[in-house]
Amino acid sequence: MADTKFGGIKIRNLYKIFGPNSQAYVEAVKKGLSKTELNARHGHVLGLRDINIEMPSGSIQVIMGLSGSGKSTLIRHINRLIDPTAGEVLVDGVDVVKMNESELREFRRHQTAMVFQKFALLPHRSVLDNTLYGLEVQGVDRAKSVEIAMRWIDRVGLKGFETKYPNQLSGGMQQRVGLARALANDAPVLLMDEAYSALDPLIRSDMQTVLLDLQKEIKKTIVFITHDLDEALRLGDQIAILRDGEVIQQGSSQDIVLRPADDYIANFAREVNRGRVIHVDAVMQPVAAGHPVNGATVAAGSSVEDAIKIIARENHKDLVVVDQAGMPLGTVDLKRLASAAVSHH
Ligand SMILES: Nc1ncnc2c1ncn2[C@@H]1O[C@H](COP(=O)(O)OP(=O)(O)OP(=O)(O)O)[C@@H](O)[C@H]1O
Ligand SMILES: [Mg+2]
Repeated sequence: MADTKFGGIKIRNLYKIFGPNSQAYVEAVKKGLSKTELNARHGHVLGLRDINIEMPSGSIQVIMGLSGSGKSTLIRHINRLIDPTAGEVLVDGVDVVKMNESELREFRRHQTAMVFQKFALLPHRSVLDNTLYGLEVQGVDRAKSVEIAMRWIDRVGLKGFETKYPNQLSGGMQQRVGLARALANDAPVLLMDEAYSALDPLIRSDMQTVLLDLQKEIKKTIVFITHDLDEALRLGDQIAILRDGEVIQQGSSQDIVLRPADDYIANFAREVNRGRVIHVDAVMQPVAAGHPVNGATVAAGSSVEDAIKIIARENHKDLVVVDQAGMPLGTVDLKRLASAAVSHH
């Protein structure tokens, strides 16, 4: 059953209205009352409107949008730091909204972990003791906690720093501790709200690499919030874009860049290095199964930029796009690749 896969999340018809009398306005909002009208007429703030997102177990779901679009509000519903005004939040098929206090406590402790923008490390604890904090709270014995924590400290690249204190570390290193601490809990769901937004560009890119490498092994359901499109495209198996509390587009990086739903998204997408983001699969001329595979090839899923490099190196007019088994899927030539790499908007 897809519903019960480990760490899979389904958000259904989720609404959040902020204010003392939120229930009173749900029906009006469902019928189309706008965020502006709700605020002007009733003094309530529309946080989220009719959010429907399915996050498959083991995938990275990016939530993107400008400041105030509802990203934090949305992610905080997943571990119910915020109660919805209406709707369901299913994790492994269980509705978080309906959990009682003790179920919720268990759920938060064992099913979810969070990584914060401001690291939220305990200043009087060493790297090691910060990392094993969650295990300590769970009552795991010291020797076992140390063993687990040391493994994650190593995996995030902090071996040798375990006795240091947060104020002795750079921002990037502190964020590594935050990540190690979250991973030590071994929860299937990892919630990251602007976790990398405070980092310098190079460090940020390093941390993206760390996360992608780790994900190959840990295969968690990661919900990652950012307002950086490059970061979203690099990390997201799926991307949902929010504006004024509504999802205005969701899909893969290819969908967002090649078929932006509106001008708001097209504007973001304009700044992107298309050659690096767009896959050859999206621009190839499909061929029949028996098409000959002679000359140079490029693997499906490669970027347009990689294909151009192969053409330049191999000095071929075109390339055959092949799947993992080496079967031909299509062909690309320089003209096709170059025109994909340049925006038409
Ligand atoms: N507790 C609250 N009470 C009233 N309004 C709130 C509350 N929390 C959030 N809001 C409103 O809900 C909307 C979404 O806020 P949210 O913090 O989710 O945005 P965000 O996308 O995370 O923004 P940022 O990028 O700045 O972090 C905003 O209009 C905000 O003012
Ligand atoms: Mg936020």
